[in-house]
Amino acid sequence: MHQISKIKGFTDLIWPEVSKYAYMENTARAVFSAYGYREIRVPVLEKTELFARSIGEETDIVQKEMFTFPDRKGRLLTLRPEATAGIARAYLDNTMYSREQTTKVFTFGPMFRYERPQKGRQRQFHQVNAELFGTHSPQADAELITMLWRYLHELGLSNLELHLNSLGCPQCRPEFSRRLQEFLATQPTQDLCPDCQRRQHTNPLRILDCKVPNCQKTAEQAPKIGDNLCAQCQAHFDSVQKVLQACPVPYVLNSRLVRGLDYYQRTTFEVVSRDIGAQSSVAGGGRYDGLVQQLGGPSCPGIGFACGMERLALLMDYPQESVPDFYLAVLDQAALDQGQILALGLRGHNFQGEVSFEARGPKSQLRLANKLKARFCLLLGTEELENKTIVVKDMQSGDQRTWPQSDLVAALAPKSHTS
Ligand code: HAM
Repeated sequence: MHQISKIKGFTDLIWPEVSKYAYMENTARAVFSAYGYREIRVPVLEKTELFARSIGEETDIVQKEMFTFPDRKGRLLTLRPEATAGIARAYLDNTMYSREQTTKVFTFGPMFRYERPQKGRQRQFHQVNAELFGTHSPQADAELITMLWRYLHELGLSNLELHLNSLGCPQCRPEFSRRLQEFLATQPTQDLCPDCQRRQHTNPLRILDCKVPNCQKTAEQAPKIGDNLCAQCQAHFDSVQKVLQACPVPYVLNSRLVRGLDYYQRTTFEVVSRDIGAQSSVAGGGRYDGLVQQLGGPSCPGIGFACGMERLALLMDYPQESVPDFYLAVLDQAALDQGQILALGLRGHNFQGEVSFEARGPKSQLRLANKLKARFCLLLGTEELENKTIVVKDMQSGDQRTWPQSDLVAALAPKSHTS
C-alpha cells in the first residue's frame, strides 16, 4: 500500500519544535492578560464573503491566496487566511460591544494562505493574534504596540526593528491616492511590474511596498503619505509616537509600510528581523476603524496585531531541554505493577519521570536513564520488592543507595526547578 504524503506547504509540528509553540502561547497568555486581554477562539472556516469584504477584493490574499471551496450545498467557504475578520464577525455576532466599552481579545491558531512555500512561509501557518475594539485613543495604539514589544522581549528575541506608519483615514487617504495616481501617470508604465500596473488603478497604495526592484525605485520618488495626512490623523500619529518615545519603545518611521490588507486606517506597524532571511516580517498590525461597520455593525474602532509563530520559532533558542527527575527501571517481571505504583506516587509529588513497561537488565536501563538525562535512576528488582526498598542512583555523582519505598520522595528532593 502506498504511503499518503502531506499537502504541500502544510507541516507537522513534532517535539521538540512543538514545545516552542506551547511556550509562545503560554507567554502570550501571561503577557496579554496583564493588559486585560481575554482569550477568544473563532472558527477556522468562514463564509468567503467575510474575507472578501474585510481584507479587500483587490488584495493579493483575496485574489490569489485563499483556500476557497463550495460545501455540500454549494456555499462558498474559505479557510481563514487571518484571524481579524473572524474575530470582528464574532464581536458583532455576540454583541460584545454592548457588554463593555472596550473589548480586548487574543487568540492563537492555524491560518491558511496559498503562497509559494519557503523558509518562514507556509500554506498552513500559525499566528498569535491580539485585537482591541472600542477606542479611538492613540494611547490604545501605543499600549498595544508596547504589549507586542514586551511579548517579543519575553520570548527572548532581540535584533528586531519596529516599523511605524500612518495610512490616514477616509478623509485624507482618497486625496493622497489621487496624488499618487497622478504621480504614477507621469512614470513609464513599463517601470511597474504587471501586478502594479493593475494596482495603479485599483489599489495604488500597494505599489509603495511592492518588492520588485523597479517598483521600489518608482516608490522612492512617489509622494509620501506622511506628508499628506489630515490634521486629525497627524495629531493622532504624533500622540502615538510621543507615548512610544516615553515608554520607550524604539521604532523607525517607514512611509512605505502600507500592509497587505485593506481594512487599515491610521497607525500601521510591522516588526522585522534581519536574522531570518527574505520572510523577515515577524509581526504586523494596525488600526481598522471602519472594519466593524463594513461588516454590518455599528461604527466601532479597532486595532490589533498578529505574530507569525513559524517566524518567531526560527528566532527562538527554546526549548531548553527538560530534565526528568527519575527513570524507574523495573528489573523483574514481578515488580512491574509496583513500579507503576511508585512512579504514580512520585508524580503526585510533582516529580517528572518515566517507568519501564518491560522488565530488563540494569545495564540497558541505566543507559536509557542516562540518555533521558534523568537526575535519578531507580532500580526495582525482586529483592527490593520483597524488602519494600528501591535502589536510588544519583546519575550525576554516581552515588547509589538503598531506600525504603515509603520514603522515596525524600530521596529525590529537593525538586529541581529546571525540570
Ligand atoms: P499579516 O501581516 O498578513 O497580518 O500577517 C501577520 C504575520 O503573520 C506576518 O508578519 C507573518 O509573520 C505571519 N505570516 C503571514 N503569512 C504567513 C505565511 N504564509 N507563513 C508564515 N507566516 C506568515 C495579519 O494577518 C493581520 N490579521 C494582523 C492584524 C491583526 N491586524 C490587525 N489585527
